[in-house]
Formats: sequence, C-alpha cells, structure tokens
Amino acid sequence: MPRVELRGLEKRFGRTVAIDGLTATIEDREFFVVVGPTACGKTTLLRLIAGLLRPDRGEILFDGVVVNDLPPPARRVRMVFQGQDYALFPHLVVYDVRRWSNLTFPLRLRSRAMREISEHVRRVTQRLRIGREIFPRRPGELSEGQKQRVAVGKAIVLPPQLLLLDEPLSHLDPHARAEAREEIRRLHAELKTTTIYVTHDLAEAFLLADRVAVMREGRFEQVGTPREVRERPLNTFVADFVQSYREAVRRAFL
Ligand SMILES: Nc1ncnc2c1ncn2[C@@H]1O[C@H](COP(=O)(O)OP(=O)(O)OP(=O)(O)O)[C@@H](O)[C@H]1O
Ligand SMILES: [Mg+2]
Repeated sequence: MPRVELRGLEKRFGRTVAIDGLTATIEDREFFVVVGPTACGKTTLLRLIAGLLRPDRGEILFDGVVVNDLPPPARRVRMVFQGQDYALFPHLVVYDVRRWSNLTFPLRLRSRAMREISEHVRRVTQRLRIGREIFPRRPGELSEGQKQRVAVGKAIVLPPQLLLLDEPLSHLDPHARAEAREEIRRLHAELKTTTIYVTHDLAEAFLLADRVAVMREGRFEQVGTPREVRERPLNTFVADFVQSYREAVRRAFL
C-alpha cells in the first residue's frame, strides 16, 4: 500500500526545473525503480512524495486522495536518504534492546514489548548482515556501507506503507550489494510494501524492478517492465542509455 499517482508535478529551484510536468502511477505493492543520470531529479521526486518538499504545480495522490497538504509523518512514508547521515540518529547506538537506539527507535515509539522488539531486530539484522559487533557503535563510528545497511534496517524494522529508497546500496562492494539487493527484493516479496527505489545503475534497476522509469531532465522518458525497456525502447534517449550500458558491461568482461 498505497497506489501513488503523480499528476503534472513540477518543482523548480530558482531557474532550475528539477521536476518538469511529471505524470505517472506507481501501483499498490509495486517495486518501482527510477533510473537516470545525475541531476535528472530523482532525489527531488522522492522528497516531493515524502512531503519534504512542496510541488510548485501538480498533485500527488495516495489511493486516490490528494496528499499535497499532508505533512511527512501523516503520509506514513519512510525514506532512506542518499549519502550524508542517511537520517540515522548520530547520538544513538545502532542497537540496544533496552534503550533508544537507531534500530529500536521506530518500535519503541509504538511502545512495542522488548521481546517483540528483539524479534523484529534480529530478523532485520540477519537479513541485512548487520553484525553484532557494530550494535554498540554510533553512526559516526561506522563505514559508509555499514551506515547504509543500518539505515535500510531502520526503515524496514516496522514496515511502512510506502518505502522510498534513494541509492541505498551505493557504498557497498559488489558482493555485499548483490546480497542486500536480494534481501530487499525478498522482503518486498513477503511484505508487498509499495517501494520506489532510485538508482543510476541500469543493471540494478533491471534486477529489482517490477517496472522501471527511465528519467531525464525532470521527466520519465519511458515506464515499463525491464523487458519492455530493454527490448522496446520508446525513443533514442532510452535506446542509447540501454545500449551504452550493455557495451560497458561487455567491455568490462572482455
Ligand atoms: N535545494 C536545492 N536548491 C537548488 N537546486 C536544487 C536543490 N535540490 C536539487 N536541486 C537541483 O535540482 C536538480 C535535480 O537534483 P536532484 O538532487 O533531484 O538530482 P538526482 O537525480 O537525485 O541526482 P544524483 O543522481 O546526483 O543524486 C539538479 O540540477 C540540482 O542541482
Ligand atoms: Mg540524488
């Protein structure tokens, strides 16, 4: 849940048009991946959906209801941010079942019992390979990859209505990345939380997505299944994007 509709969305920063009349529907329970080059508006789009930015024009609907005026907490959306602090609490340790910590925070807010908290956290830490040795550390004492895993853990420890992930695995090495990707995919298969996942990695988009949106300059150039985008690109931008990716992968393994 829910179904997300974007109608004629526009967002400007001064003279920069970050989102340029974007219209699309993300279906309930869908794993929707937005892929596109740097500065095409991916993060801005997620921030609009989360309610952290207001559109200059257009509407955002959740299950048919306009949410433009709803503040972020009322949207029941969880977002994992790209880079910097990943919205982790810098003064709290990764995990301590008895105290406020990054992984227990969402559960304690809802007064869940200690046993339930430890079960939820155990599942998530096993899934995301968050080792016990980092439980007592604060975010400042973690590597980027560890921070990213804890941030994803914090976002899914109590599954939200809508999960927004902004390049959540960009700092992991290829092996850890493939593992975390599998876990995210498996988790989605189980919980069916509507997920919007941003990446600039086309291979990752094809591996994860129910549908992919190829974004350029604030708009979606094509929305379709990985197969449709791969085999029937709608225009030269998408065709070139797919082709250059294919060539890069081929060259890397020559
Ligand atoms: N707060 C802001 N003030 C001014 N310009 C902004 C702001 N946020 C984003 N922009 C501009 O809007 C455009 C889209 O930025 P955005 O961060 O959404 O891109 P992105 O697709 O997420 O890029 P990346 O892949 O590098 O993360 C860029 O030109 C950026 O410089
Ligand atoms: Mg971004």
